[in-house]
Amino acid sequence: MKIELPALQAASMGATTARAAVYQTIFSRRDVRGQFLSESIPDDVLSRLLTAAHFAPSVGFMQPWSFLLVRDPAVKQQVHDAFLQANAEAALLFKEEQQDSYRRLKLEGILDAPLNVCVTCDRDRAGPVVLGRTHSKAMDLYSTVCAVQNLWLAARAEGIGVGWVSIFRASALREILQLPPRIIPVAYLCLGYVSHFNDRPDLETAGWRERLPLEQLVFLDRWGETGGDRTACLRDNLQRDQRDVTALQSFQTLLR
Ligand SMILES: Cc1cc2nc3c(=O)[nH]c(=O)nc-3n(C[C@H](O)[C@H](O)[C@H](O)COP(=O)(O)O)c2cc1C
Repeated sequence: MKIELPALQAASMGATTARAAVYQTIFSRRDVRGQFLSESIPDDVLSRLLTAAHFAPSVGFMQPWSFLLVRDPAVKQQVHDAFLQANAEAALLFKEEQQDSYRRLKLEGILDAPLNVCVTCDRDRAGPVVLGRTHSKAMDLYSTVCAVQNLWLAARAEGIGVGWVSIFRASALREILQLPPRIIPVAYLCLGYVSHFNDRPDLETAGWRERLPLEQLVFLDRWGETGGDRTACLRDNLQRDQRDVTALQSFQTLLR
């Protein structure tokens, strides 16, 4: 079946609403560490999330991902213990004056979330030579991250919070989940319905770090070249859009 572009691009009410819904989902997605409700995610909803992930782009159409669902409290407890150990090590890596603030941050919802999902990458899924991965071996890992982002956005649209936990020794996660050597644990996610989504990243609210001005991150033709007058209009737009989204104005304003 072909998707008719003119229909998608039509300035009809339906197309505008669909466009707004995509931006709204993107801008209101959050990394969720608290606020989880105990209600479990029904299978039909979980199926939609995993299907959204499975329709992500992948190098050479490799589809290197698998989704290991973790529901057993005993397994979650082991994963949580592995987090606690890695997190204690992590705190010591920051400057002394930052360590207390770091320890105050909540950086996981492993036991609070009804479902944990480990998204993995099978580096051998399509044999040793993969179209598109010939010169950059990491492309299969990047593909898996695309699947994670699809799942994250679909979850937001379903009112389900997702939190990514990466503070583990990979060997610990590998042992607990009994992953074979060729399987890389790319993302450990905590999923569940939430009481609310915060407006801003938790790390921003906690004063850990601020969102960078996008216009300073865009170059023209060569690294570090701003483009001067040739990008002045774009820069004005970037500043305005970031300001609008940050001020939580209607996402419709972005669709001018
Ligand atoms: C690859 C990756 C790893 C992350 N690991 C953690 C983590 O271990 N713990 C945590 O609390 N948040 C983790 N996060 C979430 C980020 O802290 C979060 O995305 C960022 O602060 C921006 O907030 P937002 O996602 O709510 O916009 C991770 C995000 C990504 C993309």
